Amino acid sequence: MRLGHIISAYQFDKKTLEQIFILFKKIKAQKYKKNLLAGKIMATLFYEPSTRTRLSFESAMLRLGGNVISTESASQFSSAAKGETLEDTIRVINPYCDVIVIRHYNEGASEIASKYSKVPVINAGDGRGEHPTQALLDLYTIFSKFKSTNLTVAMVGDLKNGRTIHSLCPFLSHYPKIKIIFISPKALAAPQSLKEYLKQKGIHFEETEDFKNVVQADVIYQTRIQKERFKSARDYQKYFGKYIIDKNILKILKKTAVIMHPLPRVNEITQEVDIDGRAIYFEEAANGLYTRMALLLYLFDKT
Ligand code: NCD
Repeated sequence: MRLGHIISAYQFDKKTLEQIFILFKKIKAQKYKKNLLAGKIMATLFYEPSTRTRLSFESAMLRLGGNVISTESASQFSSAAKGETLEDTIRVINPYCDVIVIRHYNEGASEIASKYSKVPVINAGDGRGEHPTQALLDLYTIFSKFKSTNLTVAMVGDLKNGRTIHSLCPFLSHYPKIKIIFISPKALAAPQSLKEYLKQKGIHFEETEDFKNVVQADVIYQTRIQKERFKSARDYQKYFGKYIIDKNILKILKKTAVIMHPLPRVNEITQEVDIDGRAIYFEEAANGLYTRMALLLYLFDKT
């Protein structure tokens, strides 16, 4: 399957996911040519904060021999601050680059950008919409830890606003043995459209507010309460700190479970958890680099 713009996890069929996974494994094992993207330029256009996503995309491009141009804090430092529309910015930077990686605070912004772009646009997070490349690295992290897909995945925290789970669920839905437990306050539940989609795909899922349900899980996918999406600080404070993985929770988890988090964490995983063998969130972040390298090779047909 040719990918073109990468806007949503719903674009990916199972075969494509598995082809990119093969590339991911080769890259992780350092079995790749270093200059396959020589001469290509990536533009990174980030209107929201980022550490991992932007730097791992840029590192991925550089490691494959390509180049990067970047406007960090695009809301402040690009012409958006002067009132330029996203459409105009995309049209302007098109001739400067071969691929655009964009993060924006509005849901749907990457899709709009793609309509004005002749070069592929990659969605690196659009408001509370999606974050397909994070979900891809999450999927590969799960695949690399378990031999089977007969797994129970607990998704914990802000499932309404957390865009990574909005993309991870459609990826997981390609694997019919997956069971999902959504653990969140009712007000931060996973979107109805996502649940409808899982139903339609025949994926078993449950919803609960009770954190104790993590006992059944093989994968605990913890997420941050998305402070920037709340109207008031008081609203945010209602949920902040509701679900915390600490040494007491470690005692009740399966011995074979893994603890994941797209990061950044605030207080939802305490530092004492980091040394537990089940905590794999830093390995997950490292997989971001390999996943994005694999994705770029696939996108530019350099497999
Ligand atoms: C996530 C995001 O930006 O959606 N971070 C990331 O890209 N690793 C998760 C988050 O900010 O909570």
